[in-house]
Amino acid sequence: MAELMTTRAGDAGAFRAFDLSRVPSPCFVVDEVAVARNLRILSEVADRSGAHILAALKAFSMFALAPLVARHLAGTCASGIFEARLGREEYGGEVATFSAGYKAQDMDEILRLSDHVIFNSPAQLARFGAKARAAGVSVGLRINPGHSEGEIPRYDPCAPCSRLGTPVDQLDPGIVAAVDGLHMHTLCEQGFAPLARTWAAVEDRLAPYLPGLKWLNFGGGHHITRPDYDRAGLVAFLNRIRASHGVEVYLEPGEAIALDAGILVGEVLDLPLNGMALAITDISATCHMPDVIEAPYRPALLGEAEAGHSYRLGGPSCLAGDVIGDYTWDRPLQVGQRFAFLDQAHYSMVKTNTFNGVPLPAIAIWNSDTDALRIVRQFGYADFKHRLS
Ligand SMILES: Cc1ncc(COP(=O)(O)O)c(C=O)c1O
Repeated sequence: MAELMTTRAGDAGAFRAFDLSRVPSPCFVVDEVAVARNLRILSEVADRSGAHILAALKAFSMFALAPLVARHLAGTCASGIFEARLGREEYGGEVATFSAGYKAQDMDEILRLSDHVIFNSPAQLARFGAKARAAGVSVGLRINPGHSEGEIPRYDPCAPCSRLGTPVDQLDPGIVAAVDGLHMHTLCEQGFAPLARTWAAVEDRLAPYLPGLKWLNFGGGHHITRPDYDRAGLVAFLNRIRASHGVEVYLEPGEAIALDAGILVGEVLDLPLNGMALAITDISATCHMPDVIEAPYRPALLGEAEAGHSYRLGGPSCLAGDVIGDYTWDRPLQVGQRFAFLDQAHYSMVKTNTFNGVPLPAIAIWNSDTDALRIVRQFGYADFKHRLS
């Protein structure tokens, strides 16, 4: 299993200097200096391109940092009623909500909370669009450009038979007349070139509809804060779209806000042997980093040695596949020893669960400039129990 996984690169950055024993275990530790650095890059792109950049809460909704996010970005993008409420309550600014399927009973509240409501299909648009307009909410439709840039079908909204977005060949003037904007989200952890190619694949087919639109939303999946991202290319692209089609442009990055900004600290609980050296830890792949199994990927370890003593790390749960991967230390591991996985601020904290009653990691904010540390949240038995009945 471990051999099939690719290691997701992670930059330890300032965390090399962080004393892992300063926090309870397990614990997400997010460096607010790293988040602020990412946000400054995004707000510079917004300033130079005129784009509205919204924080995708699905990736990173650590609302203790909402004031910081709100200082740099135009608002949030939500995947439904709860994220829309969190965006409105904690972040302010614009709220753009997209869901693959809305329920009639949620619509009044979603419309009260949202500035943009984006439908996945002409049928949902027909069902709720007039009500949204009457509520003064800007109406959008997600399109599916049918142009794949992703290699993994699970992460490719343009894969065959995808349920995400209306295929562009199903658009007609009547449908587009009922919307203010079109939305597309087709990328995953990608650079600028895939966005440019995707737009090139659909621009001609969308051309007849563009004059009637107020906005275009290019979704998320843009790794804008990665050092090698072609930000000049993105800025030029967004300026060209705004100028040639007379529309406002939106981006909804999630990962890019929290890229390389957080670690997940854990502790070794036991060191059994079975064909190889094993380590049971208080971090569970299935409960705390489910993408390790779903994607799958091998998270990078802070300070991993190139050679030395290797262990297969796994969680305390009953799941045989609750394996994080094989890792090497320069000295033998000890029970009670701390370690940390890199780049865990996005898509791990938001996906945690309490399967097996495994405790949720605490959440801490560290400032790598001042070394100040705040434990902002600790979870206990009540958090486990209150999800059940
Ligand atoms: C509609 C939509 N917008 C934005 C995002 C955020 O993407 P990312 O975190 O990869 O930037 C996603 C992620 O799945 C999405 O589905």
